[in-house]
Amino acid sequence: MVIRMNDEQIRPDAQQNQVVKATQVLETAADRDDRYRLLVESIVDYAIYMLDPQGNIASWNPGAQRFKGYTSDEIIGQHFSQFYTEEDRATDLPARALHIAATDGRFEQEGWRVRKDGSLMWAHVLIDPIRSPDGQLVGYAKITRDLSERKATQDALRQSEQRFRLLVQGVQDYAIYMLDPQGAVSSWNRGAQRFKGYTDEEIIGQHFSRFYTEEDRATGLPARALQTVATEGRFEAEGWRVRKDGTRFWAHVVIDAIRGDHGELVGFAKITRDVTERRNVQQELEATRARFIQSQKMEAIGQLTGGVAHDFNNLLAVVLGNLSIARKRLPNDPKLLQLIENSIQAAERGATLTKRMLAFARRQELTRGPVDVPELVRGMAELLQRSISSNIPVSTQFPLQLPLAFVDASQLELALLNLTVNARDAMPDGGSITISAREERISTREAAGLPAGSYVCLSVTDTGMGMSEETLAKATEPFFTTKGVGKGTGLGLSMIHGFAGQSGGRLVLKSILGQGTTAELWLPVVEAHLLHQEGETPHPDLPILNPMTVLVVDDDPLVLMNISAMLEDLGHEVLEATSGQQALRILRRSAEIIDLVITDQIMPGMSGVQLIEAIRAAHAELPVILASGYSELPEDKLTGLVRLGKPFEQADLARALVTIMRPSGQVLTFRPKHS
Ligand SMILES: Nc1ncnc2c1ncn2[C@@H]1O[C@H](COP(=O)(O)OP(=O)(O)OP(=O)(O)O)[C@@H](O)[C@H]1O
Ligand SMILES: [Mg+2]
Repeated sequence: MVIRMNDEQIRPDAQQNQVVKATQVLETAADRDDRYRLLVESIVDYAIYMLDPQGNIASWNPGAQRFKGYTSDEIIGQHFSQFYTEEDRATDLPARALHIAATDGRFEQEGWRVRKDGSLMWAHVLIDPIRSPDGQLVGYAKITRDLSERKATQDALRQSEQRFRLLVQGVQDYAIYMLDPQGAVSSWNRGAQRFKGYTDEEIIGQHFSRFYTEEDRATGLPARALQTVATEGRFEAEGWRVRKDGTRFWAHVVIDAIRGDHGELVGFAKITRDVTERRNVQQELEATRARFIQSQKMEAIGQLTGGVAHDFNNLLAVVLGNLSIARKRLPNDPKLLQLIENSIQAAERGATLTKRMLAFARRQELTRGPVDVPELVRGMAELLQRSISSNIPVSTQFPLQLPLAFVDASQLELALLNLTVNARDAMPDGGSITISAREERISTREAAGLPAGSYVCLSVTDTGMGMSEETLAKATEPFFTTKGVGKGTGLGLSMIHGFAGQSGGRLVLKSILGQGTTAELWLPVVEAHLLHQEGETPHPDLPILNPMTVLVVDDDPLVLMNISAMLEDLGHEVLEATSGQQALRILRRSAEIIDLVITDQIMPGMSGVQLIEAIRAAHAELPVILASGYSELPEDKLTGLVRLGKPFEQADLARALVTIMRPSGQVLTFRPKHS
């Protein structure tokens, strides 16, 4: 290190130690000077340089060289205004900057500056005046920092924020808005405006609880939601929200907390979606599923009930058949006759019950024909009024014109009677019953679970106790009754339900607990081409037939025995077969002596219809009677066939024999007398 000393700096009269001291001071000052230079020259992140009072550059550090691109040789002595843009020079900014620095003690600014290569940099500039100890301006210290990168980042951030704002603003399907920590709306996007109906001006500053329903506000839900967000960071729920016009929509809502750098709660971000439609679809789906499960259940119960009823039917046929033969052959003993009569009555009641079960299982024999529903109701008026007490008036309402329904008239009467009795039972303290009918058209399949077409809708409405939801759901199930043991069988509605379904219609129950019930029977309208086809079968007086040989086919030995007994009682010979195959074997052996075949329908191996086909192929002229409790026979197989509904009595059998021996070429169905 070089220490320069001149004469003025050392007084000649000074003591030696003073010289040493002064030397040390001087050494230290020079040392410091040097260190400062070193410091300034090693700084590369700041341009640090000096200007003379006129603004010419007097010193230049490596930072300056790095930022601006000039070496010190190139720039020292040049005016600093060349770092400014043309626009800034045009407004005299360089001179103003120096002036401000000189008068105010500093000039500070961020702005564009020009590098040697002409490119721009965003600079933070600080200019301080340098004054001599006597206050004279000797120049300026200038410190410049290149903030281009920071500015680029900031600009990018600003742009992305702007884009984000535009995005949020533009979203139509979500309401996206912010709340302040107290829950007042502080921003609002277009989706929010679309869903909720408020404009920005109307809603900003308002408390968000106004979107909630009154019930939710009463329970403090809005406050709880914000509380949840504040403690757990997020709240998510679905519920009803209210639009400006007061209508409601089903909303999916997410609220998130917005926190500052230090974790303090700044507000809430709220995203709401209108999911009303999705909810409707979902509910519809659930309802469909429930209906499907219910119909499957009914189907299963139907199969079970149908099976049981079918067997019972056969057993009752045997009992009734044997009883009627016994009654005939009875010695003249009134007491015994009474016993038999009672047994016949009981068996007939049993047959009625099994018939209801078969009806529920949609397996009853229906004789469908055109029915004038109002006419049928009028015909029953007296019977209906008699079945209910006189303090319950029954009124009817029918349109002037109503198409004919295609339905089994006597089953319909039974159904109507059942519905009226149900209505009566629901009104122990009186009330009124209205029976009405109207025409309904169904255009789409799913609307009522019925095929498209025209229907006569017959309804029985009461003002009684109504049904709870659980009762309503179970009312049509067989054996479901709320009437207590021995009072109701619980088969009334089941029967009607099955009957309506089998008729191509439907039973619809509507009920409100405490207000009353409406039962609607939807029945298909007669189609024109059917109007002339089905007619009442004339029941001929029964002439005495010549003795015949009859082949009876039934897989149930009891039934077989019973039919044989009835036939023998009528004076005929009987051959028995327990299967179709056996029957065909007998026919092969002795067809010439057989006058008639009576066969059951449901048999293992070969059904009645199959047997009939085989017989027709080999013995075209041989008459056949199909005895069956089932209605599920292929329609095209029925032409020219005489059918006998099970269970039947001897008289039914006798009538069928008479009919078949005088063939009329049409489908004839005999219904058991006690239906
Ligand atoms: N009009 C009605 N008002 C209120 N509840 C009814 C009505 N109709 C039917 N119900 C309810 O549905 C149940 C089933 O009715 P359903 O006709 O099948 O059988 P039930 O009337 O109890 O017995 P049954 O018909 O053999 O006399 C009834 O027990 C009752 O609880
Ligand atoms: Mg009933």
